[in-house]
Amino acid sequence: MNLNNLELILSNEEIQQKNKEIAKLINDKYKDKTPVIVGIMKGSVYFLADITRYLTIPAEIDIMCLSSYGNKAESSGKVKILKDLSIDIDGRDVIILEDIIDTGTTLKYLSNYFKNQNATSVTLMSIFAKEHTNIDHSFLDVVGFVLPNDFLVGYGLDCKNQYRHLPHVYKVLDTKKI
Ligand code: PRP
Repeated sequence: MNLNNLELILSNEEIQQKNKEIAKLINDKYKDKTPVIVGIMKGSVYFLADITRYLTIPAEIDIMCLSSYGNKAESSGKVKILKDLSIDIDGRDVIILEDIIDTGTTLKYLSNYFKNQNATSVTLMSIFAKEHTNIDHSFLDVVGFVLPNDFLVGYGLDCKNQYRHLPHVYKVLDTKKI
C-alpha cells in the first residue's frame, strides 16, 4: 500500500457523526417497526456495520453483492448480481445502504429491482455520492456526503479490491501508482 499517494478528504470521525444522524432518522422513522436493512456489498460493509450498531429499534440484516466495476476503474455499465437477498422482502419495510453513487448505474438498477419485489416501502441511503451534476439522485432518500469526482478509497471504497479497510476517505493522487 502506497499511503504517500493518498490525500485525506474525509475523516472517520466526520463519517461517524453523520452515521449517528442517519441512524437517528431510522430510529425515528421505523419506531415500532422491524425493517430489513440491506447492505450492498462489498462497498457498504463498514456503513452497514456502523449504522446498525447505532440502532435502537429491532432490525433484520441482509446483504446483496453487486458488481459493475470488477477490477477496473471505470464502470462496465452493467450490474451483476453476485449474491441475491436471502430474506423475502414481500410486505417488509426495506432500507438499502449503499457506499457511493458514482455513474448512477447501480442506483438505477436497484431502483428497478426493488420496484417489483412487493416491499411495503423502500428507502435508499448512500453515505457518499460523487458530485456529478448529470446524475438523478431523486430516488435517494439520504446522501451523507457529496464528494469530488476523484478516484476515492477507504471506508469501503476500493481500488482493485484494496484500500477498503482504511478508516478515512482519501483521494488517490496518482492512479498510475496504485
Ligand atoms: C461500487 C460501489 C457502488 C457502485 C457505484 O461498486 O460500491 O455499488 O460502484 O457506482 P455507480 O454509481 O457507477 O454504479 P463496485 O461495482 O465497485 O463493487 P464493490 O462494492 O464490491 O466495490
